[in-house]
Amino acid sequence: MDLYEYQARDLFEKYEVPVLPGIIADTPEEVRAAAEKLGGVVVVKAQVKTGGRGKAGGVKVAKNPDEAEEAARAILGLDIKGHVVKRVMVAGGARIAQEFYFSVLLDRANRSYLSLCSVEGGMEIEQLAVEKPEALARIEVDPNVGIDEAKAREIAEAAKFPAELVEKVVPVFVKLYGVYTGEDATLVEVNPLVLTEEGDIIALDGKVSLDDNAGFRHPEHEELADKSAENPLEAKAKEQDLNYVKLDGQVGVIGNGAGLVMSTLDVVAYAGEKHGNVKPANFLDIGGGASAEVMANGLDVILGDEQVKSVFVNVFGGITACDAVAKGIVGALDKLGDNANKPLVVRLDGNNVDEGRRILAEANHPLVTLAATMDEGADKAAELANAR
Ligand SMILES: Nc1ncnc2c1ncn2[C@@H]1O[C@H](COP(=O)(O)OP(=O)(O)OP(=O)(O)O)[C@@H](O)[C@H]1O
Ligand SMILES: [Mg+2]
Repeated sequence: MDLYEYQARDLFEKYEVPVLPGIIADTPEEVRAAAEKLGGVVVVKAQVKTGGRGKAGGVKVAKNPDEAEEAARAILGLDIKGHVVKRVMVAGGARIAQEFYFSVLLDRANRSYLSLCSVEGGMEIEQLAVEKPEALARIEVDPNVGIDEAKAREIAEAAKFPAELVEKVVPVFVKLYGVYTGEDATLVEVNPLVLTEEGDIIALDGKVSLDDNAGFRHPEHEELADKSAENPLEAKAKEQDLNYVKLDGQVGVIGNGAGLVMSTLDVVAYAGEKHGNVKPANFLDIGGGASAEVMANGLDVILGDEQVKSVFVNVFGGITACDAVAKGIVGALDKLGDNANKPLVVRLDGNNVDEGRRILAEANHPLVTLAATMDEGADKAAELANAR
């Protein structure tokens, strides 16, 4: 999960990374009040999860509350690379002497952490990496050691900070690493980290990505999720612990096991080419225990997607035998009643398949078609989707 700048700022503060005060506001009036509260020069900053806000007019300096309100009117509602600004942060204004760049991130390819650092901050780091790669230090960070004082010094020196600044940035790097491990982040980036006219080092912008896989260790991260920006079907699926990803097509797909579901998506897309180019509408892995309840939850989410015209249930019975899955499907259809209103193609194979098929045949539900193979099922589901 990527965080908004103001959320990153709050986390930085928790770990004693030097930041300026920041107040979030959703209206020009709130921005004025925030500017009055902070006093002096403030900066009104668009809160959107994309880079390049400054260039797009999403960051404005205001010398007084009037200017802040005016800046807010210009920024709220602005479209920055497809992200409409609904909220701004009013931050204290810094008197910047120099801008630097610092980040620490998960380096998947090398199964390690990596720190990037440069005394030439402020501008887009991707651009710096291309145009002046020598100005960007890349230092591997051993996850077992982390960024301690010695490592922080190595990073600062590699980035060519002058000696007196090295001493100032080292403790900040160590604290930023505290955010990185303490919050189970996969990225902590500060661009710019600044030296002020007063000689202080301050993180003026923050970008943090949290590792969702570590969410169980951080129940408090739940509150950071932006519910309003989430797809409502994905949010509903998440509540029910379903692995669901909404896609753009018309054939709902349910399977057990991520590998099987992914190959089902391929087979449906391939079959769809013969049937008006219909495509899979989602990824949904109901996992090992395909009980009636899990099946009902899964079907409920998929049928709630207006784009879905037919559903393909593709289950390979393993630990959960096919008869249990078949009972699950019958139970789910009972449970959903009139809410089950789109044709279902079911392909069962594996453990106890004969009994599973017998149960479905006996139930003889008007919406259900049985398919003998995965290809046949995909073809039928695509055909039904195209016909509706
Ligand atoms: N609180 C502040 N006080 C003074 N100047 C600021 C402040 N915040 C930002 N700035 C200036 O505005 C520039 C852009 O701000 P910031 O880095 O937050 O946005 P951005 O880089 O455009 O956005 P993104 O990081 O999303 O690409 C900074 O490089 C800095 O010069
Ligand atoms: Mg920035």
